[in-house]
Amino acid sequence: MPFDISSLIQQRSGENLRLHAAYINPQFAKVLKTIGFDKIFTSAEGPYLYDQEGNDYLDFLSGYGVFSIGRNHPVIKKTLKDFVDLDTASLIQMEAPLLSGLLAEKLVKRVGIEGMDKVFFTNSGTEANECAIKYARAATGRPRILFLEHAFHGLSTGSLSLNGNAEFRDGFGELLPGCHSVKLNDLQELEAQLKKKDVAAFFFEPIQGKGVYVPHDDYLPQAQELCRKEGTLFVADEIQTGLGRTGKWFGYEHWNLKPDIITLAKALSGGFVPVGATLCQRWIYEKVFSRMDRCVVHSSTFGQNNLAMVMGLATLAIIEEENLVEKAGKLGEELISGLRKLMSSHEWIKEVRGKGLMIGIEFGKPQSFMDKMKWNLIHKMDKGLFGELIVMPLMSQHRLITQVSGHHQDVVKLLPPFVIDQTHTAKFISALDAVLQECGQISGPLWKMGINLAKASRDDKKQAVGQ
Ligand SMILES: Cc1ncc(COP(=O)(O)O)c(C=O)c1O
Repeated sequence: MPFDISSLIQQRSGENLRLHAAYINPQFAKVLKTIGFDKIFTSAEGPYLYDQEGNDYLDFLSGYGVFSIGRNHPVIKKTLKDFVDLDTASLIQMEAPLLSGLLAEKLVKRVGIEGMDKVFFTNSGTEANECAIKYARAATGRPRILFLEHAFHGLSTGSLSLNGNAEFRDGFGELLPGCHSVKLNDLQELEAQLKKKDVAAFFFEPIQGKGVYVPHDDYLPQAQELCRKEGTLFVADEIQTGLGRTGKWFGYEHWNLKPDIITLAKALSGGFVPVGATLCQRWIYEKVFSRMDRCVVHSSTFGQNNLAMVMGLATLAIIEEENLVEKAGKLGEELISGLRKLMSSHEWIKEVRGKGLMIGIEFGKPQSFMDKMKWNLIHKMDKGLFGELIVMPLMSQHRLITQVSGHHQDVVKLLPPFVIDQTHTAKFISALDAVLQECGQISGPLWKMGINLAKASRDDKKQAVGQ
């Protein structure tokens, strides 16, 4: 056997961080070490990851929302093996593949918006949005795109032009012309921009991933109305919110919206094979692919690859069969209300927001004198530090994986898989309770950790300036 993956992994396991630092992203390897995320995970199942010593870690990050159905789902594993054994023909290119047709049919039915019956398959979320940008410009003949402050639509150049966070944009030169950000919940500003009648599309995430900002209930319905009135396409980026994450199949359903274009990715993959999709109204497709000689005017070599399509089909079947959308909604409601109860004993928590299993816990300056001083000190050292002071002990003391959401936002975000149950949500609530109790101890390990982290960050910045 010229290649044996099991023995390769066995032989080299443990070299993860060294290889990453040597060949992939040394800065990221440094961050992992600094915040205590330099674990070596060797297996995974459902909501759990396991390290080399066999310790279990509860995953409330889900690979940034990829593992909605949990890790290594038995149906996904069996489907992968069965499918490979079928020796099917894939990526012939000059053919109409069965499986992409079936997945497109399934997605169109699931969305159920009249006239929305065309699907373009991609290999990632950002590509799904690139497709939406091109379609919107071609279909409307207009140059401009609007997006929201704090928006995140991916990091390739077009999607980056719609990114509402300077930290991601800075340093990459001039991006797509005509892209303009507007404030979430500010309908007047949106209307003023739309009235110029040169806006091809308004992009939005039903709940924003960076910071977990939920729009006011009247914002998106009225934004949709304004877009319709002014001839601007209403584009829902459901890459994170889609397929049940917020307790509905699609986030826009919370407000009964009817987007013109919808983008999907992440959870559709079942966690194994990257896949993205852009669904659009038939008339939009007809404008872009207007003649036979334009039939591949937008395309991607790997877009409809069989394995990705199979994973999409299997994932949708699992979500349906296990009632995971309803489950995410119910568990999410319970988790949000449990976390809100913690607010009465911890004034560090400013707000708990979100829908379904997409939850943001925002921290804020406490009232008591000592805690206020600590808050000020930590923010003086580094604006983005407080969230890490929560995420780090959740990991090191409770083996719970979470993330800080966005830059400098004091928000910890939860994206657990939908296969968790009440024991997992209870475990998270009591772990957060314990971590926040420790926050009250000025000489406690948490604050020492914070000071060390701030020093590491300061030294790193000094070194970068010196380079
Ligand atoms: C809302 C949203 N859109 C787009 C993307 C980009 O997806 P990808 O990383 O697959 O390119 C992400 C990724 O986090 C996202 O959350």
